[in-house]
Amino acid sequence: MDDRNLGLDMVRVTEAAALSCARFMGLGDAMGADKAAVDAMRRAFDLLNIRGTIVIGEGERDEAPMLFIGEQVGAGWSEAGNDSRVDIAVDPLEGTNLCATGSPGAIAVMAFADDGKFLNAPDTYMEKLAVGPQGRGAIDITKPATWNLHALAEAKRCKVDELTAIILERPRHEALIAEVRKAGARIRLITDGDVSGAIATCNPGVDILFGTGGAPEGVLAAAALRCTGGEMQGRLKYRNDDERRRAEKMGVKDHERVYKTEDLASGDVLFAATGVTDGPGLQGVHVFSGGATTQSIVMRSKSGTVRTIAATHAFERKPNYGWLKST
Ligand code: FBP
Repeated sequence: MDDRNLGLDMVRVTEAAALSCARFMGLGDAMGADKAAVDAMRRAFDLLNIRGTIVIGEGERDEAPMLFIGEQVGAGWSEAGNDSRVDIAVDPLEGTNLCATGSPGAIAVMAFADDGKFLNAPDTYMEKLAVGPQGRGAIDITKPATWNLHALAEAKRCKVDELTAIILERPRHEALIAEVRKAGARIRLITDGDVSGAIATCNPGVDILFGTGGAPEGVLAAAALRCTGGEMQGRLKYRNDDERRRAEKMGVKDHERVYKTEDLASGDVLFAATGVTDGPGLQGVHVFSGGATTQSIVMRSKSGTVRTIAATHAFERKPNYGWLKST
């Protein structure tokens, strides 16, 4: 993977997804927003000179019309001798409900790795624990939240009540939230978007992510944390036997296994995201007459470089994003 040069190409893809689904912001149409992001991302892949294989995508072939697991994307497949093979993890719209309700934190996100370096995560849940670089090596998902908070406080040379945890607000997290409160840490509850939540642990203001969310999102978060030097641990969680069977079909043998950052995303990894709605980490798509601005990040595990890219787009010259239809 020529990862030095692929970064800007990736941003073009996440920008396309963000620009397209941002048209649906606040319209209450989560499916429409998701479809716009998926369509735009799929089209943008055709302009990339890669032989890409979707390993984390919109689902299995029979349940997703495009960006399904195993789908080959990129112009490189029709070019003899092109050997730029990459495995691709995508979430064209991470936080569909956030976009549909115009709430903060929806992003278009994608990661690249060499062949076989991402966990082929089933579309089940994953219990997650994530910290930034200062907490790396201090955490253990097999231990209670209280233990982890004390270990992290020691690693960060602070008190537990100076730590902030980020947790998805879900009924399944009631006991977890109560435990974290009892331990004395503060909490930022989020309604959706635990990829951004995991990345936030690398920035001031958030120290640790606890809780169960999507397993595919866990792989994307691990890819981001590989780049920023944080740590992610995960354990697959199933709601029913069908999910357990799907995991087995994808090669999972040990259902209790703890996946560490490198088990989720190893080798050289690239990560890119573009804001859809304004969020704590990224500005969303800001529309003006005839165009829009976007803000994206692109990160590379080999160098640890985190680039923020601000762009201005002219809809007249980029009619694919769907904004001209209503004018
Ligand atoms: P979508 O964009 O696919 O809706 O995912 C949003 C999200 O909040 C993820 O960030 C998180 O991992 C997952 O949903 C949690 O799932 P659930 O909403 O079922 O609790």
